[in-house]
Amino acid sequence: MATSQKALRTIDDPFHALLEADTHASNITSAMHVDNPIEPGPALIDKNRYISREYHELEKKHLWSRVWQQAAHEDDFPNVGDVVPYDIVDQSYLVVRIGEDEYKAYHNACLHRGRKLRESRAKGLDELRCAFHGWAWELDGSLKQVPCAYDYTDLDREAESLPEVNIGRWGRYIFINPDPNCEPLEEYLGDLSGEFEVFPYERRYKRAHVSKVIRANWKVVQEAFMESYHVLLTHPQGLSGGANDMCTKYDVFGNYSRAIRTGALDGAGVPEWEELPDTGNAVLRHPLNGMVYEDAGNETVRVTTPKGLSGLFTAKGKYIEGELKDANQHLCILVGGRKVAGVSLTQGAMARVPENEAARMMEKLGNNASPRALAAESMRQGLAEVIPSVADTIPDVELTSSIYLTVFPNFHPWGSFNEINYRFRPNGDNHEECIMEVMMMAPMPDDGNFEPTREIRYLDIDDDFVEAEAELGGLGPVFNQDTLNMPFVHQGMKASARTHTRLAEYNETKLRHFHGLYDKWVDLK
Ligand code: FES
Ligand SMILES: [Fe+2]
Repeated sequence: MATSQKALRTIDDPFHALLEADTHASNITSAMHVDNPIEPGPALIDKNRYISREYHELEKKHLWSRVWQQAAHEDDFPNVGDVVPYDIVDQSYLVVRIGEDEYKAYHNACLHRGRKLRESRAKGLDELRCAFHGWAWELDGSLKQVPCAYDYTDLDREAESLPEVNIGRWGRYIFINPDPNCEPLEEYLGDLSGEFEVFPYERRYKRAHVSKVIRANWKVVQEAFMESYHVLLTHPQGLSGGANDMCTKYDVFGNYSRAIRTGALDGAGVPEWEELPDTGNAVLRHPLNGMVYEDAGNETVRVTTPKGLSGLFTAKGKYIEGELKDANQHLCILVGGRKVAGVSLTQGAMARVPENEAARMMEKLGNNASPRALAAESMRQGLAEVIPSVADTIPDVELTSSIYLTVFPNFHPWGSFNEINYRFRPNGDNHEECIMEVMMMAPMPDDGNFEPTREIRYLDIDDDFVEAEAELGGLGPVFNQDTLNMPFVHQGMKASARTHTRLAEYNETKLRHFHGLYDKWVDLK
């Protein structure tokens, strides 16, 4: 990785000013005060990392067989004897709850002739029995029964326990590592827990789990969720209210990286537009160019420029009729793909606070309260209904930012009160497809009244995220915006005349951090 002498342009200074102005500044965690920007310098990434079979084979040999990886969550195992297979490339492991607070992980293969022991999840087993000829193991992995045992005269039963792989736990997640000589998970994760001190993962439960196959390498897909840079074009709706490209702080720490998207720090960059009339239809204005996108029914979208030119487009952004012949595909997807009326797609400081509520909060916070402080107070009041024990102590920055971390190689826990967690991996042994999983991790309510899910909603390769509306709410169309790009990124890399892709110095910090670690783990040339 080339480096230069010039200093990296960061947003550390305005971010610290924002922390100082926080209405709950004394409660800000020490992790939030730490700056650790990546070393300056551009990064050119060999495109073969994404598209060649050779790198996939290197990943199998050097990465997936050696690295800590998030394999399951405690909520997947309500009972002793619950079993969850974890498949990665051509390998398969079985995570088993063997006691009240005890788990083990085994290679998912029978020691007789090798059949997978379980190909899907199972509940409340009291043994692990192979479906082919019936060899059986106790939950703790010791050999229980061999049908027609007389036929194996020299079988050493002790030696026929199921081979284990290392297991580690963090924040109610269960990690595995197939490398017998790996470092402990605690060392691998470093200070990760410090990032979640305000509301640790031990106090979250799995509200929903969605899994979808996407036609692109797993790193292409994952990297689309590791920066805020793409919001400008892919989710322009997220720019309303003054956010701009330089409103995310990026830092790197050992095996993980962190982004804190604060919303606008200076309010600059986006023009003020008139409020849109309420027509009862889903409608959005492109915050930069003012074009209005309105659901026109039958999966069509009417697009009108500020000067009154208009055109009709499909919900996929294809021109149908009218003077206006070109429109933003990502906004057509968002507006035509579902009903968005009344749904705010922006978060935190950008969120609108209803007028009567604003007046009430002004009274509490004083007339000079900033829009960020008001938005935070509104969030705090919402959370007080669920977690009154902590709601009043939470700093503004945790309530008005999107905080998204990446633990190498593929686990993405979001911080604060955003429920999103992602995991990305190759679709089996196919390096040109990815399994993308979204786990929604909600705060456990103080009253103990919650029901975690152990089910996964599977979406196939041509399914739409909107089909998982019950699980994802308003996020489905946003993910559709993201996933529209991904197959074209994978295909475009193949078509490119260049041998590499290029990463931004700061806004793509997390990608550069990932590839720095990838250099060490995989690309051993
Ligand atoms: S392969 Fe499992 S019992 Fe024969
Ligand atoms: Fe996105």
